[in-house]
Amino acid sequence: MMTIKIETLRWAHNKLEMIDQRILPAAFEYLSYDSAATVAEGIRSMVVRGAPAIGVAAAYGVALEALRLTSEPFALSLPKEGERTRGFDRLSPNGTQNIFASDFNSGMETGFTVLAQSRPTAVNLFWALQRMRKVWENVATQTPPQIAQRLLAEAHEILAEDIRINRAMGVHGAALLPDGARVLTHCNAGALATAGWGTALGVFRSAVEAGKKISVIADETRPFLQGARLTAWEMVQENIPITLITDNMAGYMMATGEIDAVVVGTDRVASNGDVANKIGTYMVAVLARRHNIPFYVACPLSTIDMSIASGADIPIEERSADEVKGFRDTHWAAPGVKIRNPSFDVTPAELVTALITERGLVTQPSREKLLALTGSGA
Ligand code: MRU
Repeated sequence: MMTIKIETLRWAHNKLEMIDQRILPAAFEYLSYDSAATVAEGIRSMVVRGAPAIGVAAAYGVALEALRLTSEPFALSLPKEGERTRGFDRLSPNGTQNIFASDFNSGMETGFTVLAQSRPTAVNLFWALQRMRKVWENVATQTPPQIAQRLLAEAHEILAEDIRINRAMGVHGAALLPDGARVLTHCNAGALATAGWGTALGVFRSAVEAGKKISVIADETRPFLQGARLTAWEMVQENIPITLITDNMAGYMMATGEIDAVVVGTDRVASNGDVANKIGTYMVAVLARRHNIPFYVACPLSTIDMSIASGADIPIEERSADEVKGFRDTHWAAPGVKIRNPSFDVTPAELVTALITERGLVTQPSREKLLALTGSGA
């Protein structure tokens, strides 16, 4: 079995460490996080990105906040018991650390809010927060330090589960790719966008693991260049053949018969099967249909949002104009020009050949099929 070489997020020295994806591939560096607010900033600023990875980071953000609130320096800075006004409930006996349940609860609520506001489109963020909240509710009668340990265990489980899910999707997806397939992908839906292995790139890894010879074509993915910087870096690390193209070359490559299939990831799938993914994905899907090329979306169940009717309900993040003006400190756009930077677009379900999930394929996705798959209407 191929091992996972890229640890996008890891728990080390009682902190969350995340690869700084803003500086890859020029530099490889971990940054360290110790609270909900710092993790939220890591998500907002794209240190960590990609829907499943954002969800895992948010889960750790919740656990870190619980640990921070129960840590000695923080707990001791709170008013003493005698200084409390009436209405505060109880002191939680926990050895050396003391914190009122009410302080803990309000601190945790602030943590949840800050994390929920970090980025709007990837539903995995909200899925993870909801899952962590449920765990918290289930152990709410325990002491804050016990709650913190339970939340940390859940974050570890979400990380491990994400890798298992990616592996399962990989097996289902790999079966779709013929030996020798030349596969286009957009953005980065790889190990860097997950806890490891990847969704779309996980399909490629699994195909290679199954002994297939495939080659990858990566759109560079303007403006943040996830394809050129991250997908290319991941595939080169693993010796999986990869060719980089600019986004406007995909149509030419399809017309000249150089692409056999498209596999992308997703940030949110609506209940009718509409797919939000990195800006430019919709163009690729339209081109694929024009050229009779299958368009697959690797999609863990945590990315399906049964609470919304269609892609029109998916919030699309609009990011800074600076990303379009140029890259980092180099600006090439004419000064004063008006700029738009929607970060995601929606591909209608009718253009999707199949969703690849951990439970198998959903061909020509529809509300009925997603209801049957998830067993849920909301
Ligand atoms: O803005 P990003 O880099 O977070 O966008 C990421 C994508 O659009 C990915 O394709 C998507 O999250 C799927 S990742 C498995």
